[in-house]
Amino acid sequence: MKQILETLEARRAGARAGGGAARVAAQHKRGKLTARERIELLLDDGSFEEFDMFVQHRATDFGMEKSHVPGDGVVTGWGTVNGRTVFLFAKDFTVFGGSLSETHAQKITKIQDMALKNRAPIIGLFDAGGARIQEGVAALGGYGEVFQRNVLASGVIPQISVIMGPCAGGDVYSPAMTDFIFMVRDTSYMFVTGPEVVKTVTNESVTAEELGGASVHTTKSSIADKAYDNDVEALLQMRRLIDFLPASNTADVPEIPTFDDGERIDLSLDTIIPDSANKPYDMHELIAKMVDEGDFFEIQEAHARNIITGFARIEGRTVGLVANQPMVLAGVLDSDASRKAARFVRFCDCFNIPIITLVDVPGFLPGTAQEYGGLIKHGAKLLFAFAEATVPKVTIITRKAFGGAYDVMASKHLRGDVNYAWPTAQIAVMGAKGAVEIIFRADMNDPAKIAERTKEYEERFLSPFVAAERGYIDEVIMPHATRRRVARALAMLRGKALENPWKKHDNIPL
Ligand code: HXC
Repeated sequence: MKQILETLEARRAGARAGGGAARVAAQHKRGKLTARERIELLLDDGSFEEFDMFVQHRATDFGMEKSHVPGDGVVTGWGTVNGRTVFLFAKDFTVFGGSLSETHAQKITKIQDMALKNRAPIIGLFDAGGARIQEGVAALGGYGEVFQRNVLASGVIPQISVIMGPCAGGDVYSPAMTDFIFMVRDTSYMFVTGPEVVKTVTNESVTAEELGGASVHTTKSSIADKAYDNDVEALLQMRRLIDFLPASNTADVPEIPTFDDGERIDLSLDTIIPDSANKPYDMHELIAKMVDEGDFFEIQEAHARNIITGFARIEGRTVGLVANQPMVLAGVLDSDASRKAARFVRFCDCFNIPIITLVDVPGFLPGTAQEYGGLIKHGAKLLFAFAEATVPKVTIITRKAFGGAYDVMASKHLRGDVNYAWPTAQIAVMGAKGAVEIIFRADMNDPAKIAERTKEYEERFLSPFVAAERGYIDEVIMPHATRRRVARALAMLRGKALENPWKKHDNIPL
């Protein structure tokens, strides 16, 4: 018996050694942790239950029959994050570059199936070179199986991808179908084809960083939601993110004890709006002062910064925040901001996370660049997302809510449940200058008349009261009471039941 147990331990040790000491040392030298070290940091101490540690590939081409490593380049299993179950797989770059073989794919799909069946989040840690070249179509078929499960799980359980090394081919397409992608600066890259292929096909010379580094994907392409400085920070932040997320689309949002009183007022908010309508203020300040303990997990913070999206808590329960940011492009809605916020709103709606919308928006961005880039369709994505969402929706207009952007930003007309405005709100088709220039064009040569018309317009329309008179705004509230009003609204809305008409699925303007 003792010998049998020792044999098991020896086989386990063999699997845990991955691609061997030299490759592990190379991994560390690049500033990366190994798959198992990463899992240890991500999960609660000692909670990891591993699956399929002895699985090996069955390939026989290109000398592969002589090269077997137990586990086949991916570590899979489940464990807990602050006591809550998560499923995970971590690519092991030290074994065949983490590339995906038929059996490697089967390990991943087994975990995907278990996560879906047991309705818990799944996290993929990627550090891999795509399809195992020696296996050909067997590897491609394996990816197809993974992709199919990504799609079926979408909107049922949260799927999170963390890119922690050079990733190509299927190892970027599978993450692209998950809910969130995070990267590690300077050690992770994402591209469909690497720099060498790019050089051959297009004669373009680019480095891996220029082609698919974290700076590219968090700013230009918006493929990645956030980047971290190193593996440790990335994994600890994933633990923080998991704490915000429900386990599935049928689970309630997590509730975390908080010392921050829902009734807390903040008098400094009464002076946050500058005297001049053209002066910006930082919407992050309002968010920090409104949510529990100022704790805000921002999503896509480096992309389309004119809109802010992210998770926070009110009275211990997760909320999604969507907020125009007057500090960047005056908070205007453009194509990028619309797409960014639409995707976030849809995530929240999938997973029953109430949405708080903070509005200070001068409208949609005019110009040929935007129109040629499809602003109509991208803006419609956000409109569509807010309109179809059935989760509790609480909206606060702090200052400008002009034109179509007023409608789009979770207005009453899009089934906003509780729509408040600060007394500083200006709800109108457009600002005073633009409006007067159009409707009083005949008076344009008479500055005194124009000044008078402008004042008249400002007094009549640049306030929340015209909207409040119609019931489009439920109440004009004191800025200092924002947290209290939002907390009460969300508590009232906990039992909200609203269903869209039955359909196979909608046809959002992609
Ligand atoms: C088999 C692979 C591999 C692969 C890397 N390796 N990629 N083995 N199949 N796809 C092995 C290497 O042979 C090497 O083995 C070890 O992993 C480390 O690789 P290096 O090249 O030495 O590392 P590095 O210089 O850091 O470069 C990493 C890399 C590069 C950028 C990922 O290896 C690379 O470009 N790989 C190929 C990427 C690719 O084109 N994949 C196919 C995509 S098509 P040793 O034994 O020396 O340690 C695809 C189809 C899916 O995925 C379809 C989706 C729609």
